[in-house]
Amino acid sequence: MAHGQEWIGDVVEWATRASERLTWLDRPSYRLEHVIAWGFNLLGAGSDRMRNALNGTYIGHPVHPALTAVPVGAWSAAVVLDVADIANRQRPGFREAAQLTVGVGILGSAAASVTGLADWQYTHDEMRRAGLVHGLVNIAALGLCIASWWDRHRGLHGRGRVLSGLGYGLTVASSFLGGNLVYRHQVGVDHSTNELGPAKFVPVLPADHLDDGVPQRVVADEVGIVLIAHNGAVHALGERCPHLGAPMVDGWLYRDSLVCPWHGSCFDLGTGTAIRGPASAPLPTFETRIQDGQIEVRRQRGVRSEPPDEVSAYEG
Ligand code: FES
Repeated sequence: MAHGQEWIGDVVEWATRASERLTWLDRPSYRLEHVIAWGFNLLGAGSDRMRNALNGTYIGHPVHPALTAVPVGAWSAAVVLDVADIANRQRPGFREAAQLTVGVGILGSAAASVTGLADWQYTHDEMRRAGLVHGLVNIAALGLCIASWWDRHRGLHGRGRVLSGLGYGLTVASSFLGGNLVYRHQVGVDHSTNELGPAKFVPVLPADHLDDGVPQRVVADEVGIVLIAHNGAVHALGERCPHLGAPMVDGWLYRDSLVCPWHGSCFDLGTGTAIRGPASAPLPTFETRIQDGQIEVRRQRGVRSEPPDEVSAYEG
């Protein structure tokens, strides 16, 4: 029986791969990116705040995945209510409820589109093409549901049901493309690797080899770490940007933060918190000290539960 359902996976695989190969989308997609960047620039000083809100930097998590649940849920409910309305013609309320849920889905879809565009702006190659197809299919679904709501508003419930049903089908299909963006292309996934680092302090660099304000990569217990000296303190942060994995050693100091060299996310030197997006997850941080002229690092205490055999390593 399970083998009989493999065609679903084959169709999804074919569709996602096909969307990734649409190279003719590259030119319009870069134009669209420029339009988005231009739109943000129009906001002037509010640009960073808007980006942080859309990318989820303020809450430490991408916003788009949560918002996509709204149209999927609302339009699923609309389908159920439409079926109930057809099956129970004498019962009042189903039509109104269906129209209401279509409207809620429209609002959620619009919000998800805006946050999705903000996330998509920084993608490239296959993920960019797949993301654009995902967005276009969602916009088509949104258009159908807007038309459905308007038809229902005018009393054309039969046509309204058909339109929102089609929109719902497109949304479900597009959800596979969205999942592909996360699971295969890792859009929205934390790329910082979050490796633990040494449990005990280990020397990584002579203190006089670290120039003030200049990031330097070191390795501790096979974990890459970026050191940066600033205001008399030595900070140690993860070597990969959580957003899309840029090498943070190529970044630079800006006030009390380390700036990502690819898309400009800023991470607080002390806590690793993203204070400017598009990154939303924090950059890992490590404890540092200077002992016998050597910079030493170890993992932060209390960040994670330790395996039982490592608990004693902290003592002493
Ligand atoms: S890789 Fe995009 S902000 Fe760092």
